[in-house]
Amino acid sequence: MDHTVVLGTGSCLPDRKLTNADLEKMVDTSDEWITTRTGIRTRRIAGKGEQNYQLASRAAEKALAMAGVEAADIDLLIVATLTPHMMMPSSACFVQAEIGATGAFAFDLNAACSGFLYGLDVADKYITGRPDMKVLLVGSETLSARVNWQDRNTCILFGDGAGAVVLGGERGRGGVLASHLFSDGRLWRLLYMDSPESLNPDLVQESRKGCHLQMTGRDVFKYAVRAMEDAVAGVLAEQKVAVDEIGLMIPHQANIRILNKLMDRLGIPEEKVYINVDKYGNTSAASIPIALDEANRQGLLHRGDKILFCSFGGGFTWGSMLMQW
Ligand SMILES: CC(C)(COP(=O)(O)OP(=O)(O)OC[C@H]1O[C@@H](n2cnc3c(N)ncnc32)[C@H](O)[C@@H]1OP(=O)(O)O)[C@@H](O)C(=O)NCCC(=O)NCCS
Repeated sequence: MDHTVVLGTGSCLPDRKLTNADLEKMVDTSDEWITTRTGIRTRRIAGKGEQNYQLASRAAEKALAMAGVEAADIDLLIVATLTPHMMMPSSACFVQAEIGATGAFAFDLNAACSGFLYGLDVADKYITGRPDMKVLLVGSETLSARVNWQDRNTCILFGDGAGAVVLGGERGRGGVLASHLFSDGRLWRLLYMDSPESLNPDLVQESRKGCHLQMTGRDVFKYAVRAMEDAVAGVLAEQKVAVDEIGLMIPHQANIRILNKLMDRLGIPEEKVYINVDKYGNTSAASIPIALDEANRQGLLHRGDKILFCSFGGGFTWGSMLMQW
């Protein structure tokens, strides 16, 4: 039987770095506060030529080059994002045009910070049904355009970037073993971003705070830890895999304290967890594929290793996935 495997990875980060010292000049905060509460030291901010689809396209081209697959041979192109270039057409269609993936059908997928894992699951379902398919999945975000740079509660957390994978079917390799995905839309008010042109009566009637990202940080923190712990426990139990059999865990990079709590509760040592939140902050749907690409290019992923992913984001959406490299 064919399984969904990763044929290549790529990522692209904007050139401009915004440090905690820079933020000290913009809002009432300090490097010490940000570092101890979040683990974030710098984040990247998109500039000219670094729009959502442009970052996505550069990441995609690197993944295609590693996979040895031509853009024209891609059958399906998915961009996971909550900050699309436009409302219509999708960022995926812009990427298609930019890289020449002329044979693909293309669409965006919004599951906030869980978008990449949701996208992997969708791709896996297509490839399971048609193993000769080649899927290009990109997570790409330009969150800097949608945070309120006067709100110290949120602006310190987020960054821009893109990561991509080329996926295909292969016999004799484990590939995607299982995924457990969840949503709970009842909790949307704890983390949301209204659309600029929205006439949403819910938000107009209660002193509307604009279209920036809004968050109740403490509640998000608590839910995130519990939800990811449960999702990981569920996928490991289903696959009868013990924590010490995991080669590398690549979690969504939201906050070092969330990750520390998760590692504690799961009993997974820090050296088995890929962490880059200090460099890029929370890049939402891009965070897992950026981390995956870095881990891959550093030679941290070995054939046969069990790789564990988990994520949590607005919606709420969350989930876990187990893959054999
Ligand atoms: C946002 C977060 C870092 C805040 O940390 P916290 O320990 O919960 O802090 P609180 O929100 O309780 O705020 C504590 C104090 O710090 C202040 N504060 C908030 N942001 C600050 C900043 N950047 N610099 C300095 N002080 C800040 C608050 O105003 C508050 O002050 P007060 O006590 O005078 O009211 C934390 O809640 C968190 O990480 N939540 C999860 C966020 C997340 O990952 N979201 C995305 C999920 S995908």
